[in-house]
Amino acid sequence: MRAHPAGPLHGDGLIQATVPAAPDPAAMTRLDAQIWPATARRDASGAVVLGGCSIRDMVAKHGSPVMLLDEADFRARAAAFQDAYTDPDVPGLVSFAGKAFMSGTTTRWLADEGLGLDVCTGGELALATRAGFPAERISLHGNNKSDAELRAGIAAGIGRFVLDSLEEVDRLADLAGEAGAVAPVLVRVTTGVEAHTHEFIATAHEDQKFGLSLTSGAGREAVMAVAARPELRLVGIHSHIGSQIFDTAGFEVAAHRVVGFIADLAEHDGVSVEELNLGGGMGIAYLPTDDPVAPVGMAEALRAIVSGECVRRGIPVPRIAVEPGRAIVGPSMITVYEVGTVKPVEYRTGTWRTYVSVDGGMSDNIRTALYDAEYTVVLASRVSSAPAMLSRVVGKHCESGDIVVRDAWLPADLARGDLLAIASTGAYCRAMASNYNLVPRPPVVAVRGGRDRVVLRRESEDDLFALDPALADPAGPPAGA
Ligand code: LLP
Repeated sequence: MRAHPAGPLHGDGLIQATVPAAPDPAAMTRLDAQIWPATARRDASGAVVLGGCSIRDMVAKHGSPVMLLDEADFRARAAAFQDAYTDPDVPGLVSFAGKAFMSGTTTRWLADEGLGLDVCTGGELALATRAGFPAERISLHGNNKSDAELRAGIAAGIGRFVLDSLEEVDRLADLAGEAGAVAPVLVRVTTGVEAHTHEFIATAHEDQKFGLSLTSGAGREAVMAVAARPELRLVGIHSHIGSQIFDTAGFEVAAHRVVGFIADLAEHDGVSVEELNLGGGMGIAYLPTDDPVAPVGMAEALRAIVSGECVRRGIPVPRIAVEPGRAIVGPSMITVYEVGTVKPVEYRTGTWRTYVSVDGGMSDNIRTALYDAEYTVVLASRVSSAPAMLSRVVGKHCESGDIVVRDAWLPADLARGDLLAIASTGAYCRAMASNYNLVPRPPVVAVRGGRDRVVLRRESEDDLFALDPALADPAGPPAGA
């Protein structure tokens, strides 16, 4: 099993186990449709083209590294989720999880496509409101929302507050009361289902910071506390079970448990719930062996479970909402790096691997270092007929764990100046980027129909020093300072 170590399950740790036999040059050239954005192809010269723009031209224009976002692919994935969970009367049942990647431009695309937006901090909320995202389609998450964040949500008139603790119930009610508002809320519960990557466990202990436990009764207590406050309106129940999940059984077991809870509330407490939000976490393909489930298939399975259970219990069927982040933006973006140092290293007697250093690394993609994430990489500026060499794509940071792709096959004639493209870097790469070693964060450029548009510009040295009063003036400190 591959691991998503943001949870308790871990992989087998055998790095070499994931490296298949050396491919032939043609296989190294191919762009697997499951992994690469929909418009990715190679032009006559062999260069990868995305959204009708050659990555060679994009690097010439925007520099390297550059993250390229296939707008058509992004919108198509958003629309596929929107269609799968559509209810013409209730906008925003599919909320994009902004934590995966946010920018003003992409937030406006999501608004156009009719989606909602899940934000989990004041910063994400401020981006959404500045971008003009319709407030009624915004939901505010967070296990430790400040009063200021709650007030900002109330002032904006957002559509959902996702309550994550008992103390938050009265705090939000008081703040809503002060503002003369009624705040719409979901109560986030933990179902005991913990899902990561290829497996889920339905008996997980609930030893983590999010949500209110169903088994301990905290979930019910929170719902009753909400019902007791006229400044709050209970809209629904929320459950999020993990991230990068392939096995729909995890969602299905969670749905069963939450519907059971909703039915108990209706039967015993006279509380009705109109919405069941099953969170995000739908997996994407990083490798050819990954096999994600299409949104429509999962929506049908979930609908069948929820309506079946509701009919059996004789309660109205709640509408189903979801919050995918990775599954929308992840596959639609790639990172292009320029190759620098190429260094063969004998890592076991007689066995060599080539360290291929690129001009970014853990500052623009921390996921390999943090989660042992795996990626697909190709030589993207040309094709090569050279045989495969076992490679490790590493960054330029002063740290040996600065690895972008741990094991990859790349052509043996790879050289300084070649461009590499890494697939599926749209989610949690630019969003988790840092300025480690004072490396400026790369730009994000949207491509579509042969046109390119900067979504986030590259950071400059002035940006890097803007927070440092001793350096903010590029002319240097005044004489005598
Ligand atoms: N809803 C809630 C309440 C969440 O906590 C998350 C992710 C999502 C939705 C969206 O999950 P997605 O569909 O994107 O998997 N940094 C990690 C992932 C952390 C996910 C945190 N919560 C990574 O790079 O894999």
